[in-house]
Amino acid sequence: MKVLFIGDVVARIGRRTVQKLLPDLRNELELDLIIAQSENMTTGNGLTIKAVQELMDAGVDAFTGGNHSFKKAVFYPYFEDHSLPVLRPANYPDTQPGRGSLTLDTPYGKFLLVSIEGSRYNADQSEQSHPLKTVDEILERSKGEQIAGSLIDLHGDLTSEKVAAGHYFDGRVSAVVGTHTHVPTADARVLPKGTAHISDVGMTGPDNTVLGVKKEIIIDRWLENAPRRHEVPTSGSATLNAVLIDIDTKTGLARSIERIERQTEI
Ligand SMILES: [Fe+2]
Repeated sequence: MKVLFIGDVVARIGRRTVQKLLPDLRNELELDLIIAQSENMTTGNGLTIKAVQELMDAGVDAFTGGNHSFKKAVFYPYFEDHSLPVLRPANYPDTQPGRGSLTLDTPYGKFLLVSIEGSRYNADQSEQSHPLKTVDEILERSKGEQIAGSLIDLHGDLTSEKVAAGHYFDGRVSAVVGTHTHVPTADARVLPKGTAHISDVGMTGPDNTVLGVKKEIIIDRWLENAPRRHEVPTSGSATLNAVLIDIDTKTGLARSIERIERQTEI
């Protein structure tokens, strides 16, 4: 089974990048399943049903989340609609809307998708349960089910945590991929027991920005040490960052993981 995981889609320009590139990528890479990181997919962060539907129409099968998943309250009811394949991190409290894992039906069998949040700088995460232990419980619940493939998106700042999580789940899931920093890492590889891993997939959005935001705003903000409103370019050069994971559906382990990076003009 060939799975494409698309890194943090940033605002409308990120969605347009996916819409423009994904149909050809699906054919070229013979994709069976497409997953995207959704928390930044609208301008101002968070999700709208229009944005989700745009990307589903473009071919995305399911979405993982992160610290910005709850930015737009208008989407909260949709998190509770389990016909929509949209996750928020599994280690958020049960009192918050949505779910952190789901199974997708594929021609090869069931695919387990888990969204989890790791550590973030300057964030109070006291209300969140432990990322590794939360995923352990999810994997325990799915024991006995025939799982053709599985992927954990660990959304966090710390590379060390993301690498540690890869080794912790090595041999138990098809892939552990990191998101949130928006900067792709060069460490995509299959770990010794067969789990594909990368510390960060990178973002899908505008080039020549600081993590998707207009560079002048971030530089000025740093120089002046004063808050500035973030703005994301709406056109120009943009890049899709993703990983392609080839899974042996008999074992549920990875044969390979490869970085995919495509540039276009929006
Ligand atoms: Fe994030």
